[in-house]
Amino acid sequence: MTNEQYYDLRTPYNDALQIIGTRIDILDHNLYHKPSDGPVHHIQKRVKSKQSIEDKLKKLNMTDSKVNAKEHLLDIAGIRVICYFIDDIYNLVEVLKGQSDLIIIKEKDYIKNPKPNGYRSYHIIIGVPLYYADATEYFPVEVQFRTMAMDLWASMEHRIYYKKGRNPALQEELLHYANILEDLEERFKQHNANNYRNPQRES
Ligand code: GTP
Ligand code: MG
Repeated sequence: MTNEQYYDLRTPYNDALQIIGTRIDILDHNLYHKPSDGPVHHIQKRVKSKQSIEDKLKKLNMTDSKVNAKEHLLDIAGIRVICYFIDDIYNLVEVLKGQSDLIIIKEKDYIKNPKPNGYRSYHIIIGVPLYYADATEYFPVEVQFRTMAMDLWASMEHRIYYKKGRNPALQEELLHYANILEDLEERFKQHNANNYRNPQRES
């Protein structure tokens, strides 16, 4: 893929990413009665780099063309929404899924079903419509919802393990930390009293 082809590919994914980011910002300001009680701690966004796209297509035994990237990769646009509490995640997901112009392409609940290594997160791939002058085209955005505890674990695990491979002792240690963090999260939860309001249900 040439640099020019990559920049062409990137543009609509970046637009779709901005749209989802703004919609989540709006929900952060409105999901609960007090805007200062917003569910979101912070947000990270990225469009996959040229190198990562090429590496992933190679792994899938495909040539690194723009067409293959568009057809086979659902995580070119990615946004990570780091929330305070698990309830915040489910509340946000519910309202976002109610936005009628969005399409749900894929959903994985690694909070209800954590990965055996201890990874927890709520993944949803959303098809976002881009309204052009003469057409509408949908672009996938991978949204990962995590609490701060989940994000701490995943970021550390990614740094020391995810890209390196297997080591049973480390694996066990990481699972242990995942359990400690889950317990900590549960304790903080007991101090949480949010006034959830779903504007769509209220009206
Ligand atoms: P990829 O090919 O890696 O995109 O995975 P997938 O299509 O099987 O999807 P999945 O929803 O399982 O994972 C997508 C993304 O979630 C990854 O790219 C990571 O960002 C994150 N993720 C999934 N599993 C783990 C994990 O065990 N540890 C960490 N740190 N991140 C993970
Ligand atoms: Mg990925």
